[in-house]
Amino acid sequence: MAAVCMLLVIFIHLLPFYSHANDINAFKCVNIYEQPAFRHPKLKHHKLQTKPNLPVFPVHDVSSPSTIASPDECAKGQVPVHVNTPSPQLLDKNSGVKYTAAVSTIPGKKTYRGGAAVYGVFNPPVTLMQSSRANIWVQNGPESQLNSIEAGWAVHPDLYADNNTRLTAYWTEDDFRTTGCYNLLCPGFVQIDSSTFLGKSFPPESLPCTKTIAIMQDKVTGNWWLIAGTDLIVVVGYWPKELFDYLALGADIVKHGGTTSTYLDQLDRPPMGSGRYPNEWKVPGFTWIQYVNDSYQLVEADRGEMMKVLDSVCYDLQQFTLAGAVPKEGIRYGGPGGTPQKCKQLPA
Ligand SMILES: *[C@@H]1O[C@H](CO)[C@@H](O)[C@H](O)[C@H]1NC(C)=O
Ligand SMILES: *[C@@H]1O[C@H](CO)[C@@H](O)[C@H](O)[C@H]1NC(C)=O
Repeated sequence: MAAVCMLLVIFIHLLPFYSHANDINAFKCVNIYEQPAFRHPKLKHHKLQTKPNLPVFPVHDVSSPSTIASPDECAKGQVPVHVNTPSPQLLDKNSGVKYTAAVSTIPGKKTYRGGAAVYGVFNPPVTLMQSSRANIWVQNGPESQLNSIEAGWAVHPDLYADNNTRLTAYWTEDDFRTTGCYNLLCPGFVQIDSSTFLGKSFPPESLPCTKTIAIMQDKVTGNWWLIAGTDLIVVVGYWPKELFDYLALGADIVKHGGTTSTYLDQLDRPPMGSGRYPNEWKVPGFTWIQYVNDSYQLVEADRGEMMKVLDSVCYDLQQFTLAGAVPKEGIRYGGPGGTPQKCKQLPA
């Protein structure tokens, strides 16, 4: 009996050091100062920032001594990095045709320091060469040099080799021409949290559900933070200001909504959001849309500063206002996908 317990104890202690290759959340722990971001030529002299200066107050203090790491957390001084093997096409920045159903601020009107949302997390059925996502985008810059950061959930078999819904981000500094990539596939994003990382799966049995997410610029350093968790308490990490010529100065476009992609226009567009049109499925895509204004204050979205972005008949979008002491703006978005000639009908 004692021997069995001893074996069990050893096994449990070894767990975090095993390769997690078969886990849906395979990650390795790396030294926070030696993470992939610091291989970016523009980040050679970057000073690591562990505490954000934001209009919300994340309670998770990354500099406090951590307890013994659990199997889904890295020890103090280390951060998780997702281990996965994406298909080679993903390294071609220009591959793919994108479709969007979103609400956007009006370009060129105002400067924003971020966006936040309570949003629905779904698991639409997606095949290889397709992806389906829900995002907040922050963008700035002329068309050919568009700086863009987008983050939310994605189902993306070519990126993850499975159909799980995962926390996913993308960034570019030149309109997806030569720079940028998903998650940590190229150096750029600095991971700070010890357990929530880009690529982490939402527990499949918990879906659909609602989650909170924000992308916010740091008032002092100008870095762009990714914040998650109920009440925005999880400081996932940030994209350093040095990566961006235009976003360093703030964003003029903040978008909330869904996006899908296929490798070729002839292919079926995948289902977006819940896979239903807004009028036949009452689970909203985004129930609370907020912006961070130029004074770094988190403010309610105002219908007057939002416009619809909708580019495929296989998807739709409806705006609604949730009455209350403070009215909240939301959207229902999505659809079954298909070709423009024939949008798919999903079973009732
Ligand atoms: C994802 O689901 C689709 C449809 O059910 C299936 O065709 C595809 O093989 C799955 N992809 C992976 C990587 O599991
Ligand atoms: C940002 O919002 C705060 C709070 O509503 C307001 O006092 C401030 O004037 C706003 N700043 C800008 C630039 O709109």
